[in-house]
Amino acid sequence: MSRSKGPRLSRRQLLGSSAAASLGALASAAAPAASPTAGASEPSAIAFYGRHQAGVATVPQDHLAFATFDLAEGATRHEVAAVLAGWTTDAATLTRGRALPGPAGGQHPPADSGEAVGLGPARLTITLGVGPDFFTGQLGNAAARPALLAQLPAYDGDALDPVRSGGALCIQACADNAQSAFAAVHALAASGLGVLNLRAVQAGYTKNPTPADPRVARDLLGFHRTTNNIGWGDVASLDRYVWVTSPTPEWLRGGTYLVARRIRIALEQWGAVSLDEQEAAVGRFRASGAPLSGHHLHDRVDLTATGSQGELLVPPGAHVRVAGPEGNGGTRILRRGYTFSDGVDPSTGELDAGTFFIAFQKDPKGQFGDMLGRLVAGDALHRYLVHTSSGVYAVPRGLGPGEDWGSLLLGRSG
Ligand code: HEM
Repeated sequence: MSRSKGPRLSRRQLLGSSAAASLGALASAAAPAASPTAGASEPSAIAFYGRHQAGVATVPQDHLAFATFDLAEGATRHEVAAVLAGWTTDAATLTRGRALPGPAGGQHPPADSGEAVGLGPARLTITLGVGPDFFTGQLGNAAARPALLAQLPAYDGDALDPVRSGGALCIQACADNAQSAFAAVHALAASGLGVLNLRAVQAGYTKNPTPADPRVARDLLGFHRTTNNIGWGDVASLDRYVWVTSPTPEWLRGGTYLVARRIRIALEQWGAVSLDEQEAAVGRFRASGAPLSGHHLHDRVDLTATGSQGELLVPPGAHVRVAGPEGNGGTRILRRGYTFSDGVDPSTGELDAGTFFIAFQKDPKGQFGDMLGRLVAGDALHRYLVHTSSGVYAVPRGLGPGEDWGSLLLGRSG
């Protein structure tokens, strides 16, 4: 989808630069960085460069700002590549906790919005993805779309908002505070204006009560969110289920696919059912997080365990039974979702809140899509959920210093 809204004038053009290729010049005329203490050695900085993009196998920060973008009508391949090259420099700068450089002097608009000055790196990660709509006649790259990069099919009960769904590109910005995460989206949106126009922005949060175990944060159901997730440091499982290993396209080897679904939870209905029924729907005890077949949080889910009457302890429709690998031919996904709370749904007067579900996998339809199909058909939790957005994005491999997203995806921009 290509939308023409917004002026065809980027922040760089406003600042007197025709393209991101001029960033070097901008940097040399730079105003001083935000804080002299906010350098690469800052402990709260997560490296931007590396084999994989940060923000995938990264222990989740507390806050999310997720933005999607459209190609502006008439935007050329050269312009898009230049913006993406600029985004790379911006992301490398912002994740170090630095302010964006720009020409000094009061006669120019400030290059940096200023809102994150003094907050340091805050474990900010900026992760780029490209959707199916990135591969178009407009950019002359339609034939380069990876075969697995396609929107998911429709599922029963979907109530997808077309504006919140899709997009030619996505940026997942995560940080230890909401202000730094939003500042990253704000900066990239300003820098892309007129070439890559904002489509939708979703804020989210999560709070892990104990840094010792990142899997115990709770969701709006009141249950631990990711007890049985792929471990953040589990290299073998990440290689097996998450990182793309096929040699072509080269830009995707070491990358992954991101699926985003905004899933509203009918909290009023959920809050009105008994604790026993809630636990049967999830397949875990709410207080301890233990599977209904066990006693402790990290006990293995035993789908065959039976009670005194011969009944399955993890009932047939339990979410963990239907979503878990034994119900899915061994398939797993990396879940990295955030809670959202967006006020009140005016049509019902109920809370518009739930999980902004983000999953990373090698095969969006084969892993996530099939799992979702099974959940829609037979998950007891699903009756409390309404999916209100859907997006699939290919997440390029990580960059080395000197590389940039524009050149990687579209060839040389300069
Ligand atoms: C608002 C929506 C959702 C909520 C609140 C939710 C909640 C939960 C909870 C509380 C658990 C137990 C913790 C754990 O075992 O890790 C869980 C597990 C899981 N969920 Fe969800 N979930 C949602 C949607 C989905 C969707 C859409 C999928 C995939 C299509 C999914 C896939 C999984 C998987 C794979 C597990 C781990 C199962 C296992 O290996 O035992 N969930 N979910």
